[in-house]
Amino acid sequence: MKIKTFILLGWGVLLFSNFTYQGQDSEALSLKEAFKNDFAIGTALNSWQIEERNPAVNELIIQNFNVATPENVMKSALLHPKWDTYDFRMGDKLVEYGNKHHIKINGHTLIWHSQLPAFIRQIQSKDSIRTFFTDHIKTVAGHYKGQVFSWDVVNEALNEDGTLRNSVFLQKLGEDYITEAFRLAQEATPNTELYYNDYNNEQPAKRAGCINLVKKIKNAGVRIDGVGIQGHWHLGKVPLKDIEESILQYSALGVKVMITELDIEVLPRNFQGADVNQRLANTSESNPYTNGLPDTVQQQLANDYEALFKLLLKHKDKVSRVTFWGVTDADSWLNNWPIRGRTNYPLLFDRNNQPKPAYFKVIGLKQ
Ligand code: G3I
Repeated sequence: MKIKTFILLGWGVLLFSNFTYQGQDSEALSLKEAFKNDFAIGTALNSWQIEERNPAVNELIIQNFNVATPENVMKSALLHPKWDTYDFRMGDKLVEYGNKHHIKINGHTLIWHSQLPAFIRQIQSKDSIRTFFTDHIKTVAGHYKGQVFSWDVVNEALNEDGTLRNSVFLQKLGEDYITEAFRLAQEATPNTELYYNDYNNEQPAKRAGCINLVKKIKNAGVRIDGVGIQGHWHLGKVPLKDIEESILQYSALGVKVMITELDIEVLPRNFQGADVNQRLANTSESNPYTNGLPDTVQQQLANDYEALFKLLLKHKDKVSRVTFWGVTDADSWLNNWPIRGRTNYPLLFDRNNQPKPAYFKVIGLKQ
């Protein structure tokens, strides 16, 4: 059945229809197919998904996405649990999964102040931090040489005002550490695309800091291939103007632009961004949709996604990838941040693995 017919039927009807995703031949619904001439469509994958534990979710992934980012399994705490011990098992499984299902892998992430191995807290000396930094990049990027398509080399190194975050790397290695990370990654894996990734870097002050950072890396004669705008946005507040200006300004630097961790928060939260250290108290008002998303909110979410994808399509010559941070609402990190145990609805597939109205609005742009 044609997608347009579904849309005409109205999403309210869809909720009660016996719609199944599979078994549609020539007109099978697929995000990656719909946008194949525009940009890659990605998702974050968790351990369960990498191990193909849920067949229905696995089907959604294979059907819709042509690139994947590990949600956690390639972070340093997991890959590098002890000073001289690496554990590549889950990362290797992800690579196998990608090869099996024709899904390219974006490694995430080599240098990040969060989810660091516990042993880092015991290290005080600059020399030891430098040794960790160098060995980690060389070993991990070297291990996955030729196996991942790209790396988020440095993640979230900026403050909201565009200055450098006061991370252990800035404190011990100085402000050139970002350029150095890209240099080491380039040496370890010369044919892999190398990106800087952050949240809120579509906002003017942080964007300016990000632009300086890209210029600094390039001026040092080091390669940087792209900038990731994570895209953890809020219902009714997706900053389209800032996103458009960022796409134009970043691409003017000669780098690819990607939306790398897309989700749209529908629950109450009084701040923007994705700083994992920020937490909020659980109050009686903080989890309002435990019995389902009201129609008005569902529709607003669909409209927000549609407006965003319209903009991204307008700049498809500059945007190389759009990655969602999770597959279905059930596995979104936003169910547990900044408050644990909420019922959130930020993605295109619902808790029953069914496409939401937002999915039809997005894919409808290509019909
Ligand atoms: O694996 C342990 C498990 O053994 C333990 O029982 C459980 C108890 O809390 O925790 C599990 O680890 C959790 C891990 O996710 C795996 O599920 C951590 O507590 C939890 O903090 C961690 O959250 C991840 C977060 O990064 C950590 O910083 C989220 O899944 C992940 O979505 C999120 O991703 C980040 C990007 O990497 C960078 N940009 C922001 C984005 C959202 O925060």
